[in-house]
Amino acid sequence: MTRAISLQDVSKTYTRGVRVVDRLSLHVEPGEFLVLLGPSGCGKSTVLRMIAGLEEITEGTLLLDGEEANDLVPSERNMAMVFQNFALYPNMTSRGNIGFPLRVENPGEDPRPRVDATARMLGIEDLLDRFPAQLSGGERQRVAMGRAIARHPSAFLMDEPLSNLDAKLRNHLRAEISKLTRELGVTTVYVTHDQAEAMSLGDRVAVLRGGVLQQVGTPRSVYALPRNVFVAAFIGTPRINLLRGLVRAPLDGAMTISLGKQFLRLPEPLSRDHQLLRVQQGREVIVGLRSEAVRIAKHSSARPGEVPLTGLVEHVEFQGHEILVHFDTGSQPAVVPDLEAPRPASRPSRRRRREGGVTVLGRLRERAEAMRAGPVVVLDEPAGPDPAAPSEPRLPGDLVVRTTPDIDLRRGLQVPLLVDLAHLFVFDQHGERICPAPARLPDLDE
Ligand SMILES: Nc1ncnc2c1ncn2[C@@H]1O[C@H](COP(=O)(O)OP(=O)(O)O)[C@@H](O)[C@H]1O
Ligand SMILES: [Mg+2]
Repeated sequence: MTRAISLQDVSKTYTRGVRVVDRLSLHVEPGEFLVLLGPSGCGKSTVLRMIAGLEEITEGTLLLDGEEANDLVPSERNMAMVFQNFALYPNMTSRGNIGFPLRVENPGEDPRPRVDATARMLGIEDLLDRFPAQLSGGERQRVAMGRAIARHPSAFLMDEPLSNLDAKLRNHLRAEISKLTRELGVTTVYVTHDQAEAMSLGDRVAVLRGGVLQQVGTPRSVYALPRNVFVAAFIGTPRINLLRGLVRAPLDGAMTISLGKQFLRLPEPLSRDHQLLRVQQGREVIVGLRSEAVRIAKHSSARPGEVPLTGLVEHVEFQGHEILVHFDTGSQPAVVPDLEAPRPASRPSRRRRREGGVTVLGRLRERAEAMRAGPVVVLDEPAGPDPAAPSEPRLPGDLVVRTTPDIDLRRGLQVPLLVDLAHLFVFDQHGERICPAPARLPDLDE
């Protein structure tokens, strides 16, 4: 029935020798819901298609239930794929669409009972006689799910199945998919570029960047202990604050991390994690502070483990249940390349991309290669705006703090802040995490 999927050192090279997936090793347990997460173009669909058998594996081994499966044709793998664009046959009713794979696989058998049972499960009985053009986006995606489920596959492979839907429907179907796959207990590999979706769905999340696996773990562990600055920045909203810092031991001997005009003074005696910073003395680091790691200290004093900063209010973002306050602390944000704001679905077609000229594609490839080889972090400011780089909406300020909506803050106010050092991340110049020390919490699959 449901099966284990293992990738061992799997690579994919399309023509011209660029590795779009680079020595990927990943094990998915039977019945597990694993999410492949990463920015557009990082190789997620390619991985899924290699698992499905729609794309040849260039190097490495795919094991299904422990047996090599590189050369099995898709039908022998008995997996069901669900795509972003639904891919329903327009000339067939929902009944026809759901029953189609059943009729192909078992030509002598009446697909009706299975189609009906599936429709009941998805609550789409009243849609069975309609054609795709007579269905809304959400209904079409339910039918597509039905087609996948009816076959009783040994695994679901889902490639951004919700990205064409509006936000409300997406949240609704997200919950449905989660419930359904768990009830069915079928191994699922789910691809998305949406970190919130990944975090809410996955038993585990595997983060890919430029075809290279960055980290795999439970949503909780990748959020709490990101292995590098890319993972830290990719996961969580609002995005983690990343500031350029310099590790110092000033005259009085106390360790500090200077952040532009201010500094974080690490309390004595140094914690085990902070001791690790000694070897970084005089070096640039990246300080990572999630928006909940800093609080506004208007009427309260520091608790143990908190150190002060001040911030100038630049912008106040009212969200109803909370407020995001953008401060200017006089520090410089660190730049993480290859982090992409999810783009709208209006990507040029593959044909247009091809015709669009070798140069654009070539440049993208070069960049992908360079990013894979190079450091994760650019500590020097970029020489100027790169027109090819995806631009991220930059809000004013360098530090975003989350707070309760009862606080009244206006632009231009100077506000005392407290940084909770228990939630301080420090990354080295290559973007690898120094603090908290790797493998500090073995239960968080590090
Ligand atoms: N058939 C193909 N031929 C050449 N390059 C491809 C092909 N399909 C995908 N690629 C390239 O491989 C990389 C990964 O693509 P893909 O797996 O679709 O990424 P994702 O699903 O993460 O957006 C991209 O750079 C893409 O342009
Ligand atoms: Mg894709």
